[in-house]
Amino acid sequence: MGTAHYFDQDPKAASEPSRVEINLVDLSVTLTSDRGVFSSGRLDPGTKLLLTETPRVSDDEVALDLGCGWGPIACVTALRTATGRVWAVDTNTRALALTELNAQAIGTGDRITVASPTELPKSVRFDRILSNPPIRIGKPALHQLLETWLSRLSPNGRAHLVVQKHLGSDSLGCWLSDQGFPTIRLVSRSGYRILEVEPRED
Ligand SMILES: C[S@@+](CC[C@H](N)C(=O)[O-])C[C@H]1O[C@@H](n2cnc3c(N)ncnc32)[C@H](O)[C@@H]1O
Repeated sequence: MGTAHYFDQDPKAASEPSRVEINLVDLSVTLTSDRGVFSSGRLDPGTKLLLTETPRVSDDEVALDLGCGWGPIACVTALRTATGRVWAVDTNTRALALTELNAQAIGTGDRITVASPTELPKSVRFDRILSNPPIRIGKPALHQLLETWLSRLSPNGRAHLVVQKHLGSDSLGCWLSDQGFPTIRLVSRSGYRILEVEPRED
């Protein structure tokens, strides 16, 4: 049997749901996680930093949680806005099911749409993209993933990506700028960077 990865489409690990508490300055919520998805037993520290340090999504905005896992970014984003919409995408089917379950359980199911990348209509544009991106899929696949979704930022949109410094956050930032997506380092803390990315320049 091959090595199991958090980004496998159909995780082989036997399901063993667990509850994960998310405690932020402005809200606390308990969500369901499971084996076979990223950071299954706890809120990833990089994701926590992203949720703590980036501006909120406004009520009139459309956001994308790129690589939603069990849904912490999508759920917290939806809880923080009264009417903003959140799309949550992932390739891992267990992750999609967990995000759907969590969105419904906390009463945000009407504002979060969970979808595989191919199900999300091509016409949708995003005012915000929030992501703890899947660095482990390898550089070529990661670059293609980011280029695809960042190209769908609305003209005044912004993306916030959290990446560990030792996993190449700085070189990723340079690569994004080289591709025409102006990128700055918004936050640098505890071994993580939050990159702020603007839409591609014409
Ligand atoms: C580092 S995890 C972050 C999960 C979650 N957002 C969190 O913060 O806990 C990255 C996620 O990206 C997903 N992923 C991998 N390849 C993808 C792709 N091509 N499109 C969308 N999501 C993908 C993985 O399955 C994984 O759930």
